[in-house]
This record gives sequence, C-alpha cells and structure tokens, in this order.
Amino acid sequence: MSGITSLTDKDRIFTNVYGFQSPWLKEAQARGDWDDTAKLMQLGQDAIIEIVKESGLRGRGGAGFPTGVKWGFMPKEPTPGRPNFLVINADESEPGSCKDREIIRHDPHKLIEGALLSSFAMRARAAYIYIRGEYIQEAIAMQRAIDEAYEAGLLGKNAAGSGYDFDLFLHRGAGAYICGEETAMLESLEGKKGQPRLKPPFPAGAGLYGCPTTVNNVESIAVVPTILRRGAAWFKSFGRENNAGTKLFQISGHVEKPCVVEEAMSIPFRELIEKHCGGITGGWDNLLAVIPGGSSVPLVPAKDIMDCPMDFDGLKDQGSGLGTAAVIVMDKSTDIVKAISRISYFYKHESCGQCTPCREGTGWMWRTMEKLREGDAEIGTIDRLLDVTKQVEGHTICALGDAAAWPIQGLIRHFRPEIERRIAERGDRLEAAE
Ligand code: NAI
Ligand code: SF4
Repeated sequence: MSGITSLTDKDRIFTNVYGFQSPWLKEAQARGDWDDTAKLMQLGQDAIIEIVKESGLRGRGGAGFPTGVKWGFMPKEPTPGRPNFLVINADESEPGSCKDREIIRHDPHKLIEGALLSSFAMRARAAYIYIRGEYIQEAIAMQRAIDEAYEAGLLGKNAAGSGYDFDLFLHRGAGAYICGEETAMLESLEGKKGQPRLKPPFPAGAGLYGCPTTVNNVESIAVVPTILRRGAAWFKSFGRENNAGTKLFQISGHVEKPCVVEEAMSIPFRELIEKHCGGITGGWDNLLAVIPGGSSVPLVPAKDIMDCPMDFDGLKDQGSGLGTAAVIVMDKSTDIVKAISRISYFYKHESCGQCTPCREGTGWMWRTMEKLREGDAEIGTIDRLLDVTKQVEGHTICALGDAAAWPIQGLIRHFRPEIERRIAERGDRLEAAE
C-alpha cells in the first residue's frame, strides 16, 4: 500500500532531530535505538538487503539511487586481501543542505546502529564516516557516540552480541566541497588529493584501496534500523510509488520559520510550508521561486511549485529535482539573477580543475552571469550562455559540471524576460547619458 500521507509524531524515525533530548547512548536506547540489534542481524545478510530493496529506499544524498540495489552490487563472498567496505558520506556541503548535521548532533546512534546493520548486510567488517571539515562540534559529538558504543560492546569484536566483528572509524575532511563526490571522497580517504575518478568502475567494483565499497549518505544509513524494525511495508506506506518513505526536508530562505523536519515523501510544497514553516514571508502572493533540492537543481517558479509533490518524480516533472531536499525559498525581494550568479561563483570556486569543460566553463559561466546581472551584455549573450551550459552538462568527469550548468538553465528557462529587461535598461541608461 502506498499513499501520500502527512506524518504524525509517532511515524517519525528521527524522534530527537530537534535535540529536545540527549543524543547519548542511554537516552538513545530509551528511544528504541540498539533494541535487540543482534536479533535484527539474525534476519540474515541477504534478507536485510531484500527488505531494504522492498522498502523502496532511494539514496538520500541527492542522486536517489535505490539503496538496496546498490548494496546488491557488493560481492557476497569477499576475496581474501580484498575486503568489502562501507563509506558513509557526511561531507554535507551542498548549499542549503543541513540534515545530516542534525542527525549527527542529535541522533548519532541511529547512524552507528545503521552502520553496523548495513555493513553486516554487505559483508563489510569496517566502515568509515567521512565528515566535512567545518563540522567541528559534530565530529566531536560523533566520536563521543562512537566511543560510547565501543565501551558498551556495540561496536568492535562481537558487535552488539551478534558474533560479528565490526569497526567504525570517523575521518574528517578538510573543507573541499568536491570531496562529497563519492570517488573524490575515496581518494581523500586514501590520503590523496580529493579529485573524482572516472566511473565506471563504480565503487562496488573498485572503491576504497581498490576494494569493493559502497558509499551511502548519512540519512540513508540512519533510517535502516527503523526500516528493519517496522518493516518494508511500513516505510513504503509513506510517499508514493517510486518515491517511498519519510524524508528530512531542510527549509531555508523566505519562510516565517526555517526548519529541518521529517515529513512523508511526496507532501505537496504548500502543505510542507504551511504545516512546518508558518507560510511564506509576506504571504503566498509574495513567493517568487524555489530551489527545491540544494543549489545544484534548477529553480521552480512560484506557479509551478505550489501543488508539486516534493519527491523525485514530482520535481523532475517540473524540470528540477529533489536532490537533498534542501528547499530554498525566495520571495519577490530576491534579486534572482544575483542569486544564481552567486551559486555560479560557488561552483567555479569548488571545481577541482581536473577536466577542461568544468575548469574553464564554470569560470566563464560565472563571469557571464555577473555581466547579465549588471545588464552589461547583448541579448545574444543569453543564448550563448545557455549553449555553454549545454557544452558543460554531461561532458565532465563528475556531476559538478552539471550542478554548475543546471541552475543557470533554470534561470534562463523561467526568468529570461528579467535578464532581457536588465540589458535593455542598461542600454537606455547609456543612451540617455550620451
Ligand atoms: P550518480 O547518479 O552518478 O550515482 C549515484 C550512486 O549510484 C553512486 O553511489 C553510484 O556509484 C551509484 N551508481 C550509479 N550508477 C551505477 C551503476 N551502473 N552501477 C553501480 N553503481 C551505480 O550521482 P552522484 O554523482 O553520486 O551524486 C550526484 C548528486 O549528489 C547530485 O544529484 C546532488 O543532488 C547530490 N549532491 C549532494 C551533496 C550533499 O551535500 N549531500 C553535495 C553535492 C551534490
Ligand atoms: Fe573536477 Fe569539475 Fe571535472 Fe568534477 S567536473 S572532476 S569538479 S573539474
């Protein structure tokens, strides 16, 4: 059964996401974490993978790849000297995204228990949490939670009394956005410069130190214990076909109360904002546009987002994407060209410089966006810029090239008249000054 159901408190997986209670082990156990974990492991490794497949869980880091399917790529019998690894992506750096931070701050034991269960299913004896360098307090908190799990016998030899030996390590990044790309992350973990690798091979074939590796987002792993406890059908009962489960939405910008909130996947945009954010600043008529999934997805104008189901398919139908579900709301006071130009600058700054279309293209696109912002261009520049975004899109080693191209494409698709107005107005000003 699947339906778009708004969540009630009892349905929430992240019961401490607001930090009202302590994140530490005793209190986490009182909330249900680590409840007979060994019994869950008795389900068996393949059965756990099947349950996760059946739940419909799709990667929560942005790309939405089916989690259980990804786990199924891992060798069932690791060859000696080539162990399986799990790497948990906590390098949360996409502008607008801040959900993994809240999990680590307030519900770290869901992640640790999830790491054990997921690694067990994938026959990994070790997992790494790669946390972004700027998350200093979060890294301290995460390490404290890992330490207390070791002390309680939940990690290490015979983890949680299951008979399975499992180690979990925390690794801090050094502030590069690109290390959130899964293969750049593996390079960085290996002690090298964080630059993406060509795919294929995908990490399941050749990942960390050339060994089979799965890279999963924090939220994807942290929901696994609850899915196993409550069942695939329970998880699937939220959202709709192909867009199952609950999801942490991070709502920022021009709303009355910005927040991070767990909701049912597919909740319509207007309901999400009314229920949790107290509406749009200045009222619904004041809404200009929304970037629904972190800065790398195209914006959606007000008229198209209102009734849109907030999920992979709903936002794809609007020419955008769910991404990390970082919902950036912009009202009519926003200089939309400036906002997208600032995003362009971010991608130019974070390009690792490895491939030409991205290294050269991101800089050119940003400089052109700045000219358009001032109106200091010809009308034909708009189509030239659009053309360049299409030369960059799909022609780079990693998705950063696409991420730099898509916001500009969205702007031109929906706000071309605004760009043209700036060019015309500057022309009029110059003419008047002559
Ligand atoms: P992707 O679509 O290339 O891959 C997604 C996952 O599926 C990867 O783990 C990949 O290894 C696996 N995969 C895909 N095809 C496969 C195949 N044929 N065989 C085996 N495995 C396969 O996307 P990518 O580059 O991993 O992520 C891009 C997304 O990341 C963007 O859409 C963006 O929303 C998001 N993002 C999130 C950030 C954050 O802070 N959470 C930061 C930047 C981007
Ligand atoms: Fe580096 Fe950009 Fe190429 Fe990705 S697309 S590998 S960030 S240069």
